[in-house]
Amino acid sequence: MNFTRKFALVVAALTLAGVTLAHAGGHDGNPAANARQAHMKLYAFNLDVIGAMAKGEVDYDAVAAQAAANNLLALAMMKQDAYWAPGTSTAELGNETRALPSIWEDESRLDEIGVQLIEAARQLAAAAGEGQTELRGAIRGVGGTCSACHRSFRQR
Ligand code: HEC
Repeated sequence: MNFTRKFALVVAALTLAGVTLAHAGGHDGNPAANARQAHMKLYAFNLDVIGAMAKGEVDYDAVAAQAAANNLLALAMMKQDAYWAPGTSTAELGNETRALPSIWEDESRLDEIGVQLIEAARQLAAAAGEGQTELRGAIRGVGGTCSACHRSFRQR
């Protein structure tokens, strides 16, 4: 076997290994939809940390509450346009996404909710480390903004 052929086989083997790894990792589907779903999962994880303390299911912990609130604010402030890409709604991707086509018919409404979420997350970040009562008062603003967007733009 000459060198070129050997090289080609190695490349083919590596490519196959890469494909297999991608499957094992569950990264099928549309990359933009995957990215925004991952972003949403991070929102939910951090909001759950705070929600559990607000409900008293978990003891209030100022450091953990502050960290989760800071994460929510950082996430809300991330530039997300690239993964809210046109052509990636339920109309084009079917059940790979729950993002409704209406997102792209009314992008100004989506931006408006995005700004509201930043503002609500800022208030939560200011309150989260101050005590359970303060945290309880500020979580509703964030939760309400998540729900408002889901009601309008996420498939049930
Ligand atoms: C600007 C609109 C908007 C805001 C704000 C928003 N979401 Fe979402 N969310 C969506 C859309 C649209 C989807 C569906 C995305 C997809 O499937 O491509 C979604 C999906 C999700 C999912 C399912 C993710 C998955 O794995 O499929 C969770 C969980 C979620 N959101 C939680 C939250 C939480 C918690 C917040 C608030 C901190 C939030 N979202 C704020 C629009 C929004």
